[in-house]
Amino acid sequence: MKLAVINGPNLNMLGIREPQIYGKASYADLVAMIEAHAKARGVEVTFFQSNHEGAIVDFIQETYFDRVDGIVINPAAYTHTSVAIADALKAVAIPFVEVHISAVETREAFRQVSYVRDFALATVTGHGFDGYIEAMDMLIDREQNA
Ligand code: DQA
Repeated sequence: MKLAVINGPNLNMLGIREPQIYGKASYADLVAMIEAHAKARGVEVTFFQSNHEGAIVDFIQETYFDRVDGIVINPAAYTHTSVAIADALKAVAIPFVEVHISAVETREAFRQVSYVRDFALATVTGHGFDGYIEAMDMLIDREQNA
């Protein structure tokens, strides 16, 4: 099984950016944690992080041609604004789980909108980095029970 883990804008700044909200661990720490879990569960994983909406759209399109089986995506601020990213996820029709490190539902009003949520298999919020692991497990378990 092949998974793609996509992170949107400012998530490359994990560890530096608002540590009281997003924690002290870095993006590299997140990647290492996911890689270890992928190895433990015997799945392949590729990573993509970008601060650019179009680059994220391009990568989502590539997942179709690369025959990716599942996507874990934290679209970050684009969650609340991007029709293009939601359309790309619908276009490739690959099962995906939406992840947010913080509990977006308890934060500002502008974070209450998600353009991707209606099309996601599930949404995980407020579980820190563990949310990515939970999302991976949902996709892997679903594939194994298919
Ligand atoms: C986030 C929440 C978003 O509202 C915010 O813009 C982010 C990160 C999270 O992981 O909690 O950049 O997606």
